[in-house]
Amino acid sequence: MEEMKTETIQKKRILSGIQPSGDLTLGSYLGAIRNWSALADEYDCYYMLADMHTITVRQTPAELRRRTLTQLAAYIACGLDPEKNVLFIQSHVPAHAQLGWVLDCYTMFGELSRMTQFKDKSAKNADNINAGLFTYPALMAADILLYQADLVPVGEDQKQHVEICRDIAARFNGIYGDVFKMPEPYIAKVGARVMSLTSPENKMSKSDRDPNGCVYMLEKPEDILRKFKKAVTDSDACVRFDPKEKPGVSNLMQIYAVTTGKDYGVIEREFEGQGYGAFKSAVGEAVVELLRPIREETERLLADKAYLETIYRTGAERASYVAGKTLRKVYKKVGFVER
Ligand code: TRP
Repeated sequence: MEEMKTETIQKKRILSGIQPSGDLTLGSYLGAIRNWSALADEYDCYYMLADMHTITVRQTPAELRRRTLTQLAAYIACGLDPEKNVLFIQSHVPAHAQLGWVLDCYTMFGELSRMTQFKDKSAKNADNINAGLFTYPALMAADILLYQADLVPVGEDQKQHVEICRDIAARFNGIYGDVFKMPEPYIAKVGARVMSLTSPENKMSKSDRDPNGCVYMLEKPEDILRKFKKAVTDSDACVRFDPKEKPGVSNLMQIYAVTTGKDYGVIEREFEGQGYGAFKSAVGEAVVELLRPIREETERLLADKAYLETIYRTGAERASYVAGKTLRKVYKKVGFVER
């Protein structure tokens, strides 16, 4: 009975994107990508490399290309099966730019001005506060709404973007009827927030100025171990979970817990009376072992350009089919003459 039910009911749809603006980090793996492969059975999943968003900040062209392909390979190496998930590159599906423009016209100057990411990024890139940086949320709304996504897996920092997407969708639907499905943010419950190793009050980020704060997914084992050995802790030499008083140690415990599956009580007992040296090495080694197979598989895939090409071409075709349907509906609603 149960089985028959799931077969006849349309699966809910998921869409998420990562910008290839920096190398993937341990934070993006533990907080996002790792949780994605399990979703494929229950949901219809679309994952996008948001290269168009990336150029809102100046990029080196060859680097952007390299990172985009590396991320695609890494997604697959992390267990995202390209048969079960649609993996595609945003710029390969022109409907994103096309709907993005339409939605620009249904997004208000005032609401864009209030976006915290715009304020942060324009402070960081004061010499290049371009219009794309400003209208970024309308393009992201297009990414989501084109696929009629039910759920959008994002980190805390992207919640505001999903909210403005809902506001734009509601505004558009209010004028033209039910064109867009109303998406919900989907914040993973486990390991969602890995902090910087050198300033544990901040999220681990690929744009961290301190290269020791961030561990990259494809980094060499010796570099990973060195970064964990240097991780900021405190002077009380006791492995105990207390994010307020002991943010550095608690962050390391969280990383250790999600990589090994041990809970905090077990970890506290494991390192009782041992000081931080042994603890930091153990966390580093656990992370190295977790990432080793992913790095090796990513390298293998990157060497097979023909295979990667098949994946992103097929992905773009499957994505275009769904996105095209929504775009045609929107064009009709706003009054464009059908071609
Ligand atoms: N803005 C997201 C980030 O920086 C990336 C992104 C672009 C995205 N389009 C999206 C995420 C659509 C979810 C859905 O992390």
